Amino acid sequence: MKYDVGNFELVEKYQLTNTIYDFRLKNEKISKLCKPGTFVHIAVPGKTLRRPISVCDVYGDILRIVFEVRGEGTEILANTKIGDNLDIIAPLGKGFELDCNKKTIFISGGIGVPPMLYASKILGENGIVITGFRNKDAVILQDDFIKNGSKVILTTDDGSAGIHGFVTQALKEVVNQAEMICACGPMPMLKAIAKIADENSIPCQVSLEERMACGIGACLGCAVLVNKENGEQIYKHVCKDGPVFSSKEVVW
Ligand SMILES: Cc1cc2nc3c(=O)[nH]c(=O)nc-3n(C[C@H](O)[C@H](O)[C@H](O)COP(=O)(O)OP(=O)(O)OC[C@H]3O[C@@H](n4cnc5c(N)ncnc54)[C@H](O)[C@@H]3O)c2cc1C
Ligand code: FES
Repeated sequence: MKYDVGNFELVEKYQLTNTIYDFRLKNEKISKLCKPGTFVHIAVPGKTLRRPISVCDVYGDILRIVFEVRGEGTEILANTKIGDNLDIIAPLGKGFELDCNKKTIFISGGIGVPPMLYASKILGENGIVITGFRNKDAVILQDDFIKNGSKVILTTDDGSAGIHGFVTQALKEVVNQAEMICACGPMPMLKAIAKIADENSIPCQVSLEERMACGIGACLGCAVLVNKENGEQIYKHVCKDGPVFSSKEVVW
């Protein structure tokens, strides 16, 4: 996909939890190019490397991102003020392949949840959204998912909100309704989801996270080993060939 670089003005900013921020960024040209599952690469003042953050939603000329403060870069980003501009390369990577006629389960955990918002918006009532969090204080975006018209299932590890347990348990309850599964979250969770998809012969797309430098396929920083259909294994770039891969490609 062709990417562009430009200034995005921070027009709305919300704090969703102690550590998670919701930014609405305005750019008339680039926002509308961003597809579900793609990501943006944000220049952080004072840092050499840009930070990759998923497209959470797009409406009009607004790009929405939701990110967690993990280290220095995201801490600096979180201090951006309304009216400030961020230098962003977007859209990057290959997003989810979505078919509005196929009942699709969007399943994610923790900070893997934001990219599922835009993806599930495309499917609306034909989407089933399953999200998992550590506890009730970590829960985000539930009202937004409900507004998109999908069936929404919430799980927490400690049972303090929604169903007590992991997203995989909830998945087993509804997997027979699905023709496609899209997943984003930590590797062990993705691996367990891919196994359930495989056992039920349902195609599954997983969004992988890898440390990135250039973000455009030029530095090999994000290389992962993947399976080819003929059984060979080759390296691909998470930034350029992904972050979304078929679960069958991933070397678990
Ligand atoms: C395709 C993609 C989409 C992502 N989407 C989101 C999102 O929507 N919301 C969100 O909260 N986080 C997301 N992340 C993770 C986010 O990029 C990291 O949390 C962030 O880069 C950490 O930067 P830092 O400076 O705060 O942390 P530090 O640990 O100080 O970062 C040091 C360096 O490591 C890189 N780095 C550190 N952790 C990661 C990581 N997990 N993935 C990639 N690079 C990392 C940083 O870019 C930086 O170059 C995504 C990562 C990828 C690869
Ligand atoms: S981050 Fe440089 S090749 Fe992917």
